[in-house]
Amino acid sequence: MRTNVNRIREKKAKGEPLVMLTCYDYSTARILDEAGIELLLVGDSLGTVMLGYENTIPVTLEEMIHHTKAVTRGVKNAMVVADMPFMTYQISDEDALRNAGRLIQEGGADAVKIEGGENVASVIKTITDAGIPVMAHLGLTPQYIHALGGYRVQGKSVDTATKLYHDALAVEKAGAFALVLETVPTRVATHISHALKIPTVGIGAGAGCDGQVQVIHDLLGSFTDFKPKHARRYVNLAQIIAEAVKKYCSDVTAHEFPGTEESFSIDDESFGEFLKLIS
Ligand code: KIV
Repeated sequence: MRTNVNRIREKKAKGEPLVMLTCYDYSTARILDEAGIELLLVGDSLGTVMLGYENTIPVTLEEMIHHTKAVTRGVKNAMVVADMPFMTYQISDEDALRNAGRLIQEGGADAVKIEGGENVASVIKTITDAGIPVMAHLGLTPQYIHALGGYRVQGKSVDTATKLYHDALAVEKAGAFALVLETVPTRVATHISHALKIPTVGIGAGAGCDGQVQVIHDLLGSFTDFKPKHARRYVNLAQIIAEAVKKYCSDVTAHEFPGTEESFSIDDESFGEFLKLIS
């Protein structure tokens, strides 16, 4: 059965951890869905790991819709959450609702994700009131990178931890069904997780969150520009791909690829006729 907001709530009530991964394309969506991942995030991190942008700021709504469509085509059971990119929910609540609607209607997403706290509470309310589930995102919010002044742990001081706590309560009150906490001290994230009825999904926020999310490229080792401290590499895909590609190169160069098993035949009679006709 397809994962929905009720199942997400139920999991928190039962103390069952939520497992979420980012996903940006059809083939990977099929693999993750069949592996039983219940929550897929078409994150705007696709800007860096798929498109080679320096950060997530340049990602457009059209790019998000394009990748969301690919992911939803590959999914049978997972709930697909699509990130609302920078400047698609800041102008006005009406504009935000229209853009969220496009991710659902055109992209096929089941929910959207928005970065921010009290400052986006009315946006969250407008979108959820229209029947679109919203996942909130606090802590290190990459779309605020210029205001945050860099990729740093958030909520380390009394003031910032207190603001984070109040922001978390505000997004819950506004109607968010879950909250991503990114790069937050474990004790602060755990405390917020206990204070909220909705589940928290941590990334670099410790084991006290109600679930975990990771960027698939970090998990598989296929993005080599850098490895975040919070990520664990389960496989070194970059190395595996490089080795496979080198072997392919040497096979082609040595006339060892393709072999007969990768080639197609024509019967002798047809080939004889063909030679006669062209001679
Ligand atoms: O864009 C993304 O991948 C995200 C996760 C890091 C939570 O927002």
